[in-house]
Amino acid sequence: MKAMVVTQYGGPDVFSESETPDLHPGPGQVSIDVTHSAVGLIDSFLRRGTIPIFSPPYVPGLEVAGTIRELGEGVTDFRIGEPVVTLSLMSLGGYATVTVADSALTISLDGFKIDPALAVSALPNAVTAYLSLTKVAHIQKGENVLIHGAIGGLASAYPAVARSLGASRIVGTVRTASKLEAARELDYDDVVLAEDFPSAIADEQFNIVVDPVGGDMLASSLDLMAPLGRALLVGNASEHAVDISSNTLWLKNIGVQGFNVGGYLSGNPSAGRPAAKAVLQLLEEGKIDFPVTLLPLQNASEAHRRMDAKEIIGRIVLRNEF
Ligand SMILES: NC(=O)c1ccc[n+]([C@@H]2O[C@H](COP(=O)([O-])OP(=O)(O)OC[C@H]3O[C@@H](n4cnc5c(N)ncnc54)[C@H](OP(=O)(O)O)[C@@H]3O)[C@@H](O)[C@H]2O)c1
Repeated sequence: MKAMVVTQYGGPDVFSESETPDLHPGPGQVSIDVTHSAVGLIDSFLRRGTIPIFSPPYVPGLEVAGTIRELGEGVTDFRIGEPVVTLSLMSLGGYATVTVADSALTISLDGFKIDPALAVSALPNAVTAYLSLTKVAHIQKGENVLIHGAIGGLASAYPAVARSLGASRIVGTVRTASKLEAARELDYDDVVLAEDFPSAIADEQFNIVVDPVGGDMLASSLDLMAPLGRALLVGNASEHAVDISSNTLWLKNIGVQGFNVGGYLSGNPSAGRPAAKAVLQLLEEGKIDFPVTLLPLQNASEAHRRMDAKEIIGRIVLRNEF
């Protein structure tokens, strides 16, 4: 098998193409012939070592689409060749022609007419949206939701999922005017520029704030939160820490809670499939759809260069062309 290996912490040029022995699944695992591997901002944080939880050399890639290659001991619910997409694999290994995954975190695409590139771009993030909105924010019908970085990879999955769970009004923020149009293609009722936030919507109140950006965006959202509002801290794209006063949370009757899908599903793998079932329907109906840029797997460096340069609208996906 072939893999794109991160050889050391650093810039987008630290990838090396390498030939390694084929992987085989252990008990409860499947191996997958990878057709598509998603690239996310977390891959950049890991590569640079700003989140140093994996030491080089390692094969990055948290989410893949492909077909089942081999079944590990005890796995009976897949057939060889079945089209699948994985949820977030804390084991990494996606930038390769073959990977292994926990079968509980592997979702069948059998019978669904969903492009695998869109499936790997959207399904894991839509599952993150579903789990965070239901299990952490406990979203109720008629609630208002504010989503920062509205056209980012993770954020793009939220509006359709929130709407399907009964959200009433959904507002997004984007940093640049060029991204307003793409965001308005999604299920937002309104999208405003981050530079006009919060003044542009200062008369509104939100029950749920979804924040993959961090820093000032979250801090200035607290004033727009309704009593008993919940802010979901789901990322830190800005790489800035946020200072939140405990007195603000107390006196405004609001809460901020973090959610990280990989960590959650590692401890609760059985939560993955029910969430995936709920969002697969939305994908098939075209309710979660955003631009996907395809590059060959060999071009992992170029994908990371574009990711670091913030040149991407929607998501970037590596296609196995080996
Ligand atoms: N909780 C989870 O389980 C989970 C799952 C997936 C991802 N994440 C995390 O979520 C975050 C986003 O990941 P992603 O893959 O969606 O990245 P992405 O596709 O690059 O999206 C990042 C978004 O944040 C915006 N942004 C970046 N810096 C900003 C700043 N300083 N001020 C305002 N907006 C800013 C970007 O706007 P521009 O397009 O204008 O740059 C973009 O819309 C990362 O921290 C990632 O680790 C968490």
